[in-house]
Amino acid sequence: MKAVVYTRYGPPEVLRLTDVDIPVPGDDQVLVKVHAVSLNASDWEVLRGKPLYSRIGGPFLPRHHILGSDIAGRVESAGRNAALFRPGDDVFADILSHMGGFAEYVCVPQTALAPLPAGLTYEEAAALPQAGAIALQGIRDKGQVQPGQKVLINGGGGGSGMYAVQLAKLDGAEVTGVDNAEKLEFMRSLGADHVIDYAREDFTTNGRGYDLILDLAAYRPALDYRRSLMPGGRYLYVGGSVATLLQVLLIGPLIGRAERKRIGLLAVRLGVQHLDPIIELSQVGKITSVIDRRFPLSEVPEALRYLGEGHAKGKVVVTVG
Ligand SMILES: NC(=O)c1ccc[n+]([C@@H]2O[C@H](COP(=O)([O-])OP(=O)(O)OC[C@H]3O[C@@H](n4cnc5c(N)ncnc54)[C@H](OP(=O)(O)O)[C@@H]3O)[C@@H](O)[C@H]2O)c1
Repeated sequence: MKAVVYTRYGPPEVLRLTDVDIPVPGDDQVLVKVHAVSLNASDWEVLRGKPLYSRIGGPFLPRHHILGSDIAGRVESAGRNAALFRPGDDVFADILSHMGGFAEYVCVPQTALAPLPAGLTYEEAAALPQAGAIALQGIRDKGQVQPGQKVLINGGGGGSGMYAVQLAKLDGAEVTGVDNAEKLEFMRSLGADHVIDYAREDFTTNGRGYDLILDLAAYRPALDYRRSLMPGGRYLYVGGSVATLLQVLLIGPLIGRAERKRIGLLAVRLGVQHLDPIIELSQVGKITSVIDRRFPLSEVPEALRYLGEGHAKGKVVVTVG
């Protein structure tokens, strides 16, 4: 089969489209013919080995040689004990823990798979897993957004941000989206009430306060975020620099306590079994998976560069076959 392979951390040029053996499913696994795989910032990070947390499991060389975690496709065959799915079933999955989606076929533990949601295309289903889980848990489960609250989504024009802006608006919040200048109009089109170009304005020094800050691009000292929270407000780190992560973990619980401000990490529970609410909203047309661009498997390097250089408004999807 064709697969996009890499053996050392680096820029997209280290990726090679090559022929490899079709993997053989283990007893509890299912072999899936990949039809669509969406890109996440985590693919870009694990490709380059930056930030440092992306090297967990492979400090010097990549642990997995084929990236791509959010897949949708059709079951080709199943292992001896994998009775939940049959050849021909349409499925989707989040396989971040072992990757392998930038290929024509991938083996997936049957417990990581779910049936393709009715009414969604392969591309729409592949767009959802990681970004949808981040948005759902950031806005609802942990963020607990209430009508009328002020919510700021830093990185609101990317994959997770695209879902988070829509969810926060559905839940009645006043939403501010922060991203680069190219994505301001896009965030408005998703429903954001206010938009900020991060190159022109620092939201932590503009004097405004928020009930929830969902931070998909966290690069500031943790103390800066405290300033932007209303009393009782909450800051959630999702991704960004290791320095910010360490501050959030070590001093976050202390620095806002007096004003009942909570500063912490959103440790996302990944897996398509957590996505039901956002799947249902997608099926009734209340949440849209905006797919900015589609690339063939042979152009995974270009697709990753497009995402990594910050052009993607919403999701980028690789269509296979
Ligand atoms: N906490 C967890 O459990 C967990 C689980 C899975 C993934 N993650 C992390 O989640 C993060 C977000 O993922 P994603 O797929 O939504 O990323 P994405 O699609 O790349 O979106 C991130 C957005 O942030 C923007 N951005 C970059 N620097 C910024 C800044 N200084 N201020 C404001 N916006 C900025 C980016 O645009 P430009 O780059 O163009 O400026 C981009 O639009 C990743 O870092 C990933 O590792 C966390």
